[in-house]
Amino acid sequence: MAKVILDMSMSLDGFISAPNDEDGGLHNWYFSPSSVSAAVIAELIDSTGAIMMGRRAYNLGDQFDGYVDNPYKVPHIVLTHHPPEKIAKGETAFVFVTDGVQSAVEQAKRAAGEKNVVIGGGANTARQCLNAGVVDEIQIHLIPVLFNRGLRLFDDINSQAIGLEKVRVIEVPNVTHLHFKVIQ
Ligand SMILES: NC(=O)c1ccc[n+]([C@@H]2O[C@H](COP(=O)([O-])OP(=O)(O)OC[C@H]3O[C@@H](n4cnc5c(N)ncnc54)[C@H](OP(=O)(O)O)[C@@H]3O)[C@@H](O)[C@H]2O)c1
Repeated sequence: MAKVILDMSMSLDGFISAPNDEDGGLHNWYFSPSSVSAAVIAELIDSTGAIMMGRRAYNLGDQFDGYVDNPYKVPHIVLTHHPPEKIAKGETAFVFVTDGVQSAVEQAKRAAGEKNVVIGGGANTARQCLNAGVVDEIQIHLIPVLFNRGLRLFDDINSQAIGLEKVRVIEVPNVTHLHFKVIQ
């Protein structure tokens, strides 16, 4: 049965992007990985059966031709109010979902089969998934930097606390890979 895993890179002070959608080096660990981080990436690619994302994250990927050499050869489920007329370059299969987060998760789970659904961003989509109670696990790639400004991941979460059990910590100098189970 597919698990739903929120997987994002975050600054130590909780931002997933710097102002104006700049990545501020949050993804350096991914694009120039150490051997330890390369194993984390390989595990993620291997275990992912579908990716869920919001329209802004999709647009930013499209803008930088981010789907052209996409290692995730799985359906990408995109939450949007208005599906694009022209699909991003590359071989990635996109499904544009206009009837809400629950429907998107259900479609992603069906597409993922026995593998996991990974929520890859952005913050708006991640929050909706957390608030809908559909997230089973959270993997945060924590970067040792303070942004002070930008887009926060965990703002506007419903008032009820979300309990987490830490199940894995992998440390390298430029990133700490943190993995939690949601135990609400
Ligand atoms: N650090 C990381 O790991 C990471 C990963 C990915 C992205 N990011 C960053 O995250 C930022 C983008 O995130 P974001 O929070 O601004 O936006 P987002 O979650 O990527 O997308 C939000 C958009 O998706 C559509 N949408 C969301 N929920 C919907 C629903 N229930 N029904 C229909 N459409 C829905 C809406 O777009 P429309 O109304 O236009 O359709 C909404 O404006 C960027 O700065 C990006 O760089 C960071």
